[in-house]
Amino acid sequence: MCGIVGYIGDKLVAPILLEGLSKLEYRGYDSAGIAVCDENGVTIEKAVGKLENLYKKTDNGTTISGTKGIGHTRWATHGKPTEENAHPHKSERFVLVHNGIIENEEFLRSKYLKGVNFVSETDTEIIPWLLDKFTQSGEDTEMAIRHLMSEIVGSYALAIIDRENPDVLYAVKNKSPLLIGKGEGFNMIGSDSMAMIANTNMFFEIHDKEYVVITKETVKIYTQYGKLIDRAPFKAELDLSDTEKGTYAHFMIKEIEEQPAVIRRLIQKYADENGDISVDKAIVNDIQSCDKIYIIACGTSYHAGLVGKQLFETMAKKPCDSYIASEFVHNTPLLSEKPFFIFISQSGETADSRAVMVKVKAMGHKILTITNVKGSTLSREANYTLLLHAGPEIAVASTKAYTAQIAVLAILASTVAKEPGLDIKYELSKVANVIETICSESETYKYLAEKYLKNARNAFYIGRCVDYYVCLEAALKLKEISYIQAEGFAAGELKHGTIALIEKGTPVIAIITQENINLNTRSNIEEVKARGAKTLVISTSSLSSHNDKIVIRDVHPLLAPIVSVVPTQYIAYYAALCKGRDIDKPRNLAKSVTVE
Ligand code: AGP
Repeated sequence: MCGIVGYIGDKLVAPILLEGLSKLEYRGYDSAGIAVCDENGVTIEKAVGKLENLYKKTDNGTTISGTKGIGHTRWATHGKPTEENAHPHKSERFVLVHNGIIENEEFLRSKYLKGVNFVSETDTEIIPWLLDKFTQSGEDTEMAIRHLMSEIVGSYALAIIDRENPDVLYAVKNKSPLLIGKGEGFNMIGSDSMAMIANTNMFFEIHDKEYVVITKETVKIYTQYGKLIDRAPFKAELDLSDTEKGTYAHFMIKEIEEQPAVIRRLIQKYADENGDISVDKAIVNDIQSCDKIYIIACGTSYHAGLVGKQLFETMAKKPCDSYIASEFVHNTPLLSEKPFFIFISQSGETADSRAVMVKVKAMGHKILTITNVKGSTLSREANYTLLLHAGPEIAVASTKAYTAQIAVLAILASTVAKEPGLDIKYELSKVANVIETICSESETYKYLAEKYLKNARNAFYIGRCVDYYVCLEAALKLKEISYIQAEGFAAGELKHGTIALIEKGTPVIAIITQENINLNTRSNIEEVKARGAKTLVISTSSLSSHNDKIVIRDVHPLLAPIVSVVPTQYIAYYAALCKGRDIDKPRNLAKSVTVE
């Protein structure tokens, strides 16, 4: 979703802002803009569409002088993607960029802003005018910011320029992510570390309802009531090369092929001094003493949660369910007596998941977050965190985070299991090796994707039990990047209605990795074949039949989703490639979904 960058220092700021925004492109956006201050005032430039339009308009940022500025990529919520609606927005005195949504916009307009001529359709534009209003009534800038925070309801990360305080930038945060980057002789603002990593790897976390006063030498963080907070910066483990795609054509293919390394890294990161896999004992004790595990997540992470349910119930004999966060928050089921919550989120910033976290935290329940981003909101607000150690995932379509999520869930479930079960370290090493073999056969997936999907309007993935969960993920991947309407379906359920959609040439891809359902799924394949479907089977070698086009080496059946998903990631990638889609930044989507 929207991205923010800001810089105050001695260097020409526009190229720094543009570079920062380019690192935020992965979040999804449809317009961009920057505001830069020099001794003559503030220059604002905006462009609709890709960031390259803004690069062109400003001759790579070189046409604008000034060493302090803010920038923004906008993912439209209130109003279409136009230059008027693009950020920065301004009043007479203030210029700012905003991520989030102001919920009481109408009320504030009628209370304070009657007679103001707004030029955009955005909720954001009220904010600089409110600051104008408050400062005109005699408040200084910080008082006006505190006043603003007491009035606006909703989510907001703001980077603010005050024309009357040329040596300062201000930042404000509530619910939307925001970090401050600490440099030598400069400081930065960013909605995530990627925007700043080319300049610094030291960051201050900013919590909800805090504001920050930033000069090129100092960063002062305050509560909403003006109390100075003493907070040390942290060093990010990220480096610039992690954010670049090197020789790969797209981040997605790079991230697919990083999966063996990610699994091996996880084995290493979760090994204790004896080399045995282990997890914080407090987490294990809390899970062992709970009566049900509730997994909360969205999209791909929710699909990993479904596999997690299987792992906890089979290995650890703990009742478990995985829930879609945006449903759970408004339709909370009757909870068991001693629940334990696991939030799964690649970004750690997903607003839907966070809304549930706020709710269950208020009920006093214990929470674990499984995330790829250390220090993210969902990590900070949970009792415990387990990291995915997958490295930055930049393609909007999640791949390596999904497999890492299942691997961490498996590590956790096997640690919680009281009876000695599978040797997780050995089994995960095998998984890494099998994924490596799958990656070496990418040409086969390319051929099959072109053959089955190049001209397809719709497609089905079918499977049973845990294979069905993988089908949900495989279909999501295919639809989000190729725009082919794809559905993941429980193979046995097709005949209860959906089979009516099968016609001559409809691609149906079946996944078979579990012995107990092998023959049942094969019967369902015959049913769709008899109605004209073009079928393709992904199976494991011990269950394969001579017609199966993708046969993957066997791994432990509980870990099969980690490997069976990989061919489907390739299929989605190559289907999107042959259709000429924008693979890393599919239309309408954002990487980090920070609005509910
Ligand atoms: C999947 O490819 C998507 N990017 C999306 O479904 C994603 O998994 C979802 O938005 C949740 O994001 P999170 O893991 O960062 O919470």
